[in-house]
Amino acid sequence: MAKKKTLFECQACGFQTPRWMGKCPSCNEWESLVELSAQQIQFLKESSSITSQTATSKAKPITDISEDNIIRFSSGSKELDLVLGGGIVPGSLTLIGGSPGIGKSTLLLKIAGNLATQERTVLYVSGEESAGQIKLRANRLDANHEKLYLLSEINLSTVISEISSKSYNFIVIDSIQTLYSEETPSAPGSVTQVRTITFELMRIAKSLHIPIFIIGHITKDGSIAGPRVLEHMVDTVLYFEGDTNSELRLLRGFKNRFGSTNEVGIFEMNSRGLNDAKSMAGRFFDKEKLQSGSALTVIMEGSRPIIIEVQALVSESYGHAKRSSTGFDNNRLNMLLALLEKKLDLPLGTHDVYINISGGIKINEPSADLAIIAAILSSYRDRALSSETLFLGEVSLTGEIREVSGLAQRLKEIETQGFKKAIVPAKPIEKSAIKCFIADEVSKVVEWIFV
Ligand SMILES: Nc1ncnc2c1ncn2[C@@H]1O[C@H](COP(=O)(O)OP(=O)(O)OP(=O)(O)O)[C@@H](O)[C@H]1O
Ligand SMILES: [Mg+2]
Repeated sequence: MAKKKTLFECQACGFQTPRWMGKCPSCNEWESLVELSAQQIQFLKESSSITSQTATSKAKPITDISEDNIIRFSSGSKELDLVLGGGIVPGSLTLIGGSPGIGKSTLLLKIAGNLATQERTVLYVSGEESAGQIKLRANRLDANHEKLYLLSEINLSTVISEISSKSYNFIVIDSIQTLYSEETPSAPGSVTQVRTITFELMRIAKSLHIPIFIIGHITKDGSIAGPRVLEHMVDTVLYFEGDTNSELRLLRGFKNRFGSTNEVGIFEMNSRGLNDAKSMAGRFFDKEKLQSGSALTVIMEGSRPIIIEVQALVSESYGHAKRSSTGFDNNRLNMLLALLEKKLDLPLGTHDVYINISGGIKINEPSADLAIIAAILSSYRDRALSSETLFLGEVSLTGEIREVSGLAQRLKEIETQGFKKAIVPAKPIEKSAIKCFIADEVSKVVEWIFV
């Protein structure tokens, strides 16, 4: 008798193995391997054989191939167009992720409304809300248009038959975790379901040349709930950042097959929805309310400089010293603390240190290192820093302060917003009205930090 074939799949990362294991060797998750049914194994075989069946075309020299002519169209939102690299690409599959309530549905319903106003036929599929609920939101966002079609559905085959019934120009799927394919008898949101559905949506987007935006929920650690394979399959991955208590939201590109991932879209949440933020000036700090433990710096979000406030709290520890940061890399914080301990003889090993970046911003560049150090020193000594001074510089393991990119642009922003002084790692090439203190080493900064 032939031995029954078994296959186990990790529900966290999609890793497959013929043997059950308590811990997934790929993502180290415990008890995440589940056995696939014979039907699921058959489906996987069939989907992988699609490629081999259709691989009848011959390879050609690259010089004989004509390039794809990509004609983008505007989403009606300057900020979204910027993150996408200049607008929506027909036939592309885009994933938008973000924590609950951050505004994913709000943004995409608004975009759907914008496109319907441009006389494009748009389908908004929701597996989470009823059509009536979405209509209520559309009223608030001013997205009511006869070219915008709503479908409240979780069954993928019904969604596909709706897509083939009209020539849609734009499709929104809200959300990937709620859609369900009958082909794979596992629960909605599971690895196999998400992979099957994304594969189908990719096929539709490419063959019908329709741009499809998929909403994805994210887990506590900030990754899309479901397999990472989803991020690999789509063309573009955008994540929402921001504090749900503040009205500003950032949309950051993590992957883009049609453009760079340097730019960040900045939106503002109000009763009329999530709209392009008008001005960034003074949105992430309050000069008048700067207290001990706060320092100002200017970061580059794509091509835009933004002044932000970094906050530190250093307090004597009772037991094991805690280090925690929100919006700043914890490993980098540990490195900076070790450096301060070594170079400045600060007894930080017996202190808890907490870092927070204002406005829910996540710092992805090292230019804020010096501001973090300034905030830590300010909290440790319980002395407020001057509200006229900004701190700029990357700190190396040796305590050297390194240059930052776009210094002239950052100084210009500092000047525009009425500041007077900056502690910088190098002399600016262009003339600036800002009084610059050049600090090339951490130990030197201490002298100027409270000026
Ligand atoms: N009437 C209103 N006025 C102002 N803001 C509102 C109003 N109604 C909702 N909001 C804002 O919209 C947010 C919800 O947005 P939305 O439903 O688009 O989020 P989401 O990311 O799709 O969430 P989920 O993951 O739960 O689907 C709320 O957190 C709130 O900030
Ligand atoms: Mg939603």
